[in-house]
Amino acid sequence: MSNDRYFVTGAMGCIGAWVVHTLIQDETPVTVFDLSDNRHRLELVMPADALDKVDFIQGDITQTDAVKAALIDSGAQHIIHLAALQVPFCKADPPLGAAVNVVGTVNMFEAAKAAGINHLVFASTAGVYGPKNRYEEQLMGHDSRLDPVNHYGVFKQANEGTARIYWQDDGIGSVGLRPYTVYGPGRDQGITSTPTQAMLAAVRGEPYHISFGGSTGFHYVGDVAALFIQASRIAFKGSEVFNIGGAVAHMSEAVDAIKAVIPEAVVTHEDAPLPFPDGQTDEELRALLGDIPDTALTDGVRETIVHFQNAIKSGRLSANS
Ligand SMILES: NC(=O)c1ccc[n+]([C@@H]2O[C@H](COP(=O)([O-])OP(=O)(O)OC[C@H]3O[C@@H](n4cnc5c(N)ncnc54)[C@H](O)[C@@H]3O)[C@@H](O)[C@H]2O)c1
Repeated sequence: MSNDRYFVTGAMGCIGAWVVHTLIQDETPVTVFDLSDNRHRLELVMPADALDKVDFIQGDITQTDAVKAALIDSGAQHIIHLAALQVPFCKADPPLGAAVNVVGTVNMFEAAKAAGINHLVFASTAGVYGPKNRYEEQLMGHDSRLDPVNHYGVFKQANEGTARIYWQDDGIGSVGLRPYTVYGPGRDQGITSTPTQAMLAAVRGEPYHISFGGSTGFHYVGDVAALFIQASRIAFKGSEVFNIGGAVAHMSEAVDAIKAVIPEAVVTHEDAPLPFPDGQTDEELRALLGDIPDTALTDGVRETIVHFQNAIKSGRLSANS
């Protein structure tokens, strides 16, 4: 339990919903700042009565004054900045992607400065790295070269630079975290959402073809949410961005994990990997945070499937797609 309030942007999204759920479970006050007022992920992830404890501000991260006013009004002491447009949305509309992902992050730092908050945590991505054939190392280390292949990755790389400059010029410390393939309840959009969609399809008794293959870093969403909160609590002095390790596994292992819970599931996957590395190492994050949650792929897949099964039973999810 903590009396410190958290200001979480993009919290109607998948990771944000789990951050809010985790904070409320811990009796920590939280203000959500999001353009969307669609609560379907929060409703899937947390009990209905827990939602009453959340403060909601509907606002646009691209609007500097609105972000500042919302943060100051919230009275928050901690910021977790997740609002962003994912790969397909940045590709479809690069100017909007840059406004949300790049200007939005600058706005978040400006708001922190205006509110007198000297630290924040933000989401970067494993997509700041390029395809694996451009590297000698198999897994990306803390200092591996950034080489993004799409607007989204370039925008996130810019944010990592923005964070560095706000520490240098204004003394606002930050931790950036680089998730890879986040899976779990609420993961329903973005290129790496298809393993989770396969889990939901399996629960519904529907066939599913996952859109990519190869090796990837799988992160159970509850772990990722916990990492953002843990990183925020240390109020880091400096500006660093950390890889998240998670379970580095081939897509066939994720399919096997689904079939271990639902043997009759009809799940296949594309052979081609994403244009990213096989996975990441996370020694530096472990050195920073100490004990970190690290759910095994088989356990995270089982938890996700059971969550979906319960959500369908209780009417929070439809039994068909
Ligand atoms: N999910 C992953 O596998 C993954 C991997 C790497 C990085 N990330 C990063 O983690 C963060 C959270 O990811 P997610 O999967 O929860 O994303 P998501 O797409 O589920 O949620 C993003 C949220 O941002 C909000 N948003 C969009 N435009 C906005 C605006 N103009 N103003 C305010 N809010 C706005 C959306 O309404 C949405 O609720 C993002 O920054 C994402 O880039 C995610």
